[in-house]
Amino acid sequence: MKNANSNNESDFEIAPRMMQAQGVGNDEEKFENSLRPKNLDEYIGQDKVKENLKIALEAAKKRNESVEHILLHGPAGLGKTTLAYIVAKEMGANIRITSGPAIERAGDLAAILTNLEDGDILFIDEIHRLNKMIEEVLYPAMEEYCLDIVVGKGPAARTLRLDLPKFTLIGATTRVNAISAPLRDRFGIQHRLQFYDLPQMKKIVERSGNILEVDADEDAVHEIAKRSRATPRIANRLLKRVRDFAEVKGDGTLTHSLSREALELLEIDEYGLDEIDRRILQIIIEKFSGGPVGLNTIAAAIQEEMDTISDVYEPFLLQCGFLARTPRGRIATETAYEYLGRKIPVKLI
Ligand code: ADE
Repeated sequence: MKNANSNNESDFEIAPRMMQAQGVGNDEEKFENSLRPKNLDEYIGQDKVKENLKIALEAAKKRNESVEHILLHGPAGLGKTTLAYIVAKEMGANIRITSGPAIERAGDLAAILTNLEDGDILFIDEIHRLNKMIEEVLYPAMEEYCLDIVVGKGPAARTLRLDLPKFTLIGATTRVNAISAPLRDRFGIQHRLQFYDLPQMKKIVERSGNILEVDADEDAVHEIAKRSRATPRIANRLLKRVRDFAEVKGDGTLTHSLSREALELLEIDEYGLDEIDRRILQIIIEKFSGGPVGLNTIAAAIQEEMDTISDVYEPFLLQCGFLARTPRGRIATETAYEYLGRKIPVKLI
């Protein structure tokens, strides 16, 4: 029975917002899942990460242990979730999936942890969004595989210690700096995922095209790969849009010219930048004389969420060298001025 004190951190009657790995999610998630590589050999790029993971997984298997906790960080859409699925598959383990914002109370996390089995993988996406109180439940769970529960209140309060199965936590985040040092230190394995280069992106588009059974010219694959912001999730999304366009405007075959037309209609340019990227650069150059300008000021000026700018737009603009970070804020680079066809100010020459 739920008591009146349902905000109590030790309330255990809350259903955990958690998903099993199979058959979940909306159409977009199902589409993404259908294109995920199923093992490390199928996974394109991130060679160092793969090599390190392979060794860690093989060693754990040899010792008949669960693999150490893994923290994967880096920009959105590069394959952190995919790697978590692959780790589970390679270990022959079940994967349970949740996210920082979905775990609202300590009781939610306790329910998740007590439902795990030996060897299970627990994947927490956006782990930087866990609140402090929940993080503290995680520490003993990660370190000693136990759960400390406070029962009762005031002087009668007691701590009960429950043993947990030997699970592996895989945390994913776009903001490793937002994770507290004590939490970060409890991950024995930590890897940063990098943006993909063009040959890798082409292989990913080609692979997805084959799975979706679309007929695509080599130039079309190149065009989609080039405009996908070095990000597989975006490549897969654009492939779907170009496929629609080719079915409506052509005979279904992805040609170079149809791909260019489709991507131009989506307002995605040769660099993969969209309208919001261009607005960000324009605002910095036109309203703030090229910067430096704070992220909050940029967000207010273009009426976008600060998190969206910092997680979705900024990493690629930094990677391409259109934007630079300084202690006093963001600045538009010489390349950004050239890109927008503006006169380069003396201060940048
Ligand atoms: N689909 C999404 N990411 C991928 C990757 N890194 N390799 C192959 N296919 C992918």
